[in-house]
Amino acid sequence: MKQEILKILKNSDSYVSGEVISNQLNVTRAAVWKAINSLRAQGYNIVSMKHHGYKLEDTATVYNERELRELMDRSELLRNVRLKFFGEIDSTNLAARRDVDKLSGTSLYVADRQLAGRGRLGRTWQSEPDNGIWLSVMLRPQSNPDRLANLTLFAGLCVQRALVKHTGIEIGIKWPNDLVAMPSGRKICGILTETVLEDMQVRAVIIGIGINVNNSSFADDIKHIAGSLRLESGQIYDRGRLLIDILHELIGNFHEFESGLEAKHIEPSWMEGYRQACVTLGRRVSVSGGGEAAEGLASGLTAGGDLTVTMDDGSIKTCHSGEVSVRGLAGYI
Ligand code: BTN
Repeated sequence: MKQEILKILKNSDSYVSGEVISNQLNVTRAAVWKAINSLRAQGYNIVSMKHHGYKLEDTATVYNERELRELMDRSELLRNVRLKFFGEIDSTNLAARRDVDKLSGTSLYVADRQLAGRGRLGRTWQSEPDNGIWLSVMLRPQSNPDRLANLTLFAGLCVQRALVKHTGIEIGIKWPNDLVAMPSGRKICGILTETVLEDMQVRAVIIGIGINVNNSSFADDIKHIAGSLRLESGQIYDRGRLLIDILHELIGNFHEFESGLEAKHIEPSWMEGYRQACVTLGRRVSVSGGGEAAEGLASGLTAGGDLTVTMDDGSIKTCHSGEVSVRGLAGYI
């Protein structure tokens, strides 16, 4: 009955009386009242006014499987994408991994909270409830594994474009794929791309995306580098609608990434867009990974998405994503 009431309220711009609802659904007024309270407890902002009835104000704070499915079903591109939504899970990337052999096609994993969120280079990713988007998209590109190295850059570019379009905030890419607000340089989003292989063939790629959306503060250990969309603009965002925009950009343009796989050694069409969004290029950086950290100038990007750094001793270092950590010398960027 709750869903039917929700439907009635969603279809009305003004108040609907308890009597109209109870007649329409053939239930008592008390049952309507009980269901309304239960919907409120789920986060639906239903206001009531004496002699007028009930009105659904907005659904921005509601983030659940039903709302997301409804938004996805409105889009031709996303209608056939499988969705798994978790109130709580260890990690959406791990959830996708567990499904690699069970499912085919494109699948989406979304959680309100991750208990063991994973970051790049073996780090953890703090994923508290209510404020963030923690999602993984599992795709099945037909490709050799060595051609997928720059998928992580492509994913970064797609998410950056979606965030800029949706929020108007100036956001750049810190190589390879941290999204940082400019000019503060605070990290808004991190991406962990994992490839699942079988007999040296790609079974699936899992693109895990973590975005700090409505956070108003961060734990002590990350508060000097972390930022959120809300802290940048002062606005609260509807996570469901933002997520849909990200999926449109990523899944809708994935063919561009796949067509770039065909011509080896030739720079893919999207790489120039990446270069323009990349705020690491032209900055002094410190490169670490394996050996001691060393400093230099981030001077270019190869067609394969590697970062070239002109080190202070004059040598050129080629950095592969996933292997090195690059930190700006004037801060995080
Ligand atoms: C990083 O910057 O270190 C990458 C962070 C990636 C976090 C996302 S949140 C959704 C998905 N599930 C995970 O466990 N990690 C990714």
